[in-house]
Amino acid sequence: MSTLEEDVFSGLTAYPKKLPSKYIYDKTGDELFQKIMDMPEYYLTRAEFQILKKHKEKLSKVFDAFGGFDLIELGAGDGKKTKILLKHFMEKGLDFHYTPIDISQNVLDSLKASLKEELPGLQVTSRQGMYFKVLQDLAGYNKRRKIIMVLGSNIGNLMHKKAIDFLKNIRDSMGEDDLLFMGFDQKKHPQVILDAYNDNTGITAAFNKNLLVRINRELDADFEPDNFLHWETYNPETGTAKSFLVAKEPMTVQLKKISLEVHFKAWETIHTEISQKYDDDTVRWLAGQSDLVITEIFGTDDEAYKNYIFKRR
Ligand code: TRP
Repeated sequence: MSTLEEDVFSGLTAYPKKLPSKYIYDKTGDELFQKIMDMPEYYLTRAEFQILKKHKEKLSKVFDAFGGFDLIELGAGDGKKTKILLKHFMEKGLDFHYTPIDISQNVLDSLKASLKEELPGLQVTSRQGMYFKVLQDLAGYNKRRKIIMVLGSNIGNLMHKKAIDFLKNIRDSMGEDDLLFMGFDQKKHPQVILDAYNDNTGITAAFNKNLLVRINRELDADFEPDNFLHWETYNPETGTAKSFLVAKEPMTVQLKKISLEVHFKAWETIHTEISQKYDDDTVRWLAGQSDLVITEIFGTDDEAYKNYIFKRR
């Protein structure tokens, strides 16, 4: 079985049912996520864009403190935000090398093409793969300072235990002088969060349901996406936002490729995504658990989103 087949089989035979959100991101999913990032409700991308724009000079000084560095970005995506920094660093004539890492070779190819056009002369080496594997490869590389960058509050897709594993993994690939620069979406008015993950134009609903569309296509299944509701919850006590697909009526679904028949009761759920929201104390706690310390915090004026710099403790 492929990993998709294994994950879908175990997720839909589990109780309660679940499916990994990473499978939303096929070609249609990538396009829908692009639309999400452009929605007025989805404040995250714009917030981080502002932070990078406002603090690019300060960041250039911190990153380049020893003269020269390698900027390694996990989950580089379309690079829209990163280009603010790359452009500024080039204008200042800093001696740096950019290594975008992503699981999608597609995404890396178009990123490389756009960088070649917009920032000729930039030193780029992309790497395709899962974060952990690529980080291990980079651990042995210590010729000059590494700045590891993770934007978009991607860490929020991991609950705390896994987030700590992720941070520990990064920490193990860092040398004494290396830095980690990471975005964390912050706790805020619960309605603002609910709106960002459930817009009333239905883009997020289509995005979440794209999981079922993809499974229909790739696993020869017969989900009726319209028979599911996209539902978002946010718990202000824990800061955890969760996305669900909720069955509106009893259903039986066939997934022929993996010889699986799945029954849904009316109002049964499939959990698809976690988007954890943070505050300084929680980030400090995560850092401590991972043997890292915060050295600097950059936030938007309304403190709705923050980027933190960490080093080894
Ligand atoms: N995981 C991303 C985030 O937390 C992308 C995302 C936005 C998402 N809306 C979603 C994932 C709805 C699943 C369902 O911001």
